[in-house]
Amino acid sequence: MNPSLSLVAAIAENGVIGLRGGMPWRLSTDMRRFRALTIGKAVIMGGVTFRGLKAPLAQRLNVVVTRSGLPSSGLVVSVDSLDAAFAAIRAPGTGFPPDEAMVIGGAAIYRDTIALADRLHITHVDARPDGDTFFPRIDPTAWRPVQREEVPAGPKDDFATTYIVYERREPPLAVDGGGRDPQFWRDGDVGELLAEAAELRRPA
Ligand SMILES: NC(=O)c1ccc[n+]([C@@H]2O[C@H](COP(=O)([O-])OP(=O)(O)OC[C@H]3O[C@@H](n4cnc5c(N)ncnc54)[C@H](OP(=O)(O)O)[C@@H]3O)[C@@H](O)[C@H]2O)c1
Repeated sequence: MNPSLSLVAAIAENGVIGLRGGMPWRLSTDMRRFRALTIGKAVIMGGVTFRGLKAPLAQRLNVVVTRSGLPSSGLVVSVDSLDAAFAAIRAPGTGFPPDEAMVIGGAAIYRDTIALADRLHITHVDARPDGDTFFPRIDPTAWRPVQREEVPAGPKDDFATTYIVYERREPPLAVDGGGRDPQFWRDGDVGELLAEAAELRRPA
């Protein structure tokens, strides 16, 4: 069995997640949340995202999907497919839970895993920056917001954000018959999801 997958991403209103191999914002508050969410777990990332890090993420099993020949070493496990990533996480003796993984980007890896995921941890960034990398579609018929927190911009944050946890609707509300590429971000979908999330009670 594959590990249970959660996608973790910060997404602008226009679907942008990246620019020239990096992120188009500084969001320190969100980085703290990211750390708390992922620490002690396996994280799956693409080669571009890994090469954008200053160093492998500490206290996490860094599973890097790449064809670049990156060597595995210490907390870095280099694999050449998603199936190999899942096998590496399930392998005995990693010291990390074998049944759970956090997918941390970028766009190529999000596109390939969103259909397999159980949960999305999305930081909706209150901005429409220029970018060259986009999150795939979050289909409102497939995803239900279950937790919401509005986060004002702190001194080290470029923008305010809204953090929303989505869970897969079982069964889905409808089969999406939209004629456009289902992988493509649509602002309107997220407006719908945010409106549903606005009805959630604030966490106690
Ligand atoms: N806002 C956010 O939350 C967030 C999070 C993460 C990343 N980002 C941004 O997203 C951008 C990077 O996204 P991206 O889509 O360009 O790159 P990416 O998903 O990080 O990496 C793509 C690379 O992963 C490898 N890869 C992907 N699928 C593979 C497969 N099936 N088998 C083997 N290798 C595979 C290839 O690596 P090789 O080229 O190494 O062979 C491919 O070039 C950056 O701007 C980054 O800052 C944003």
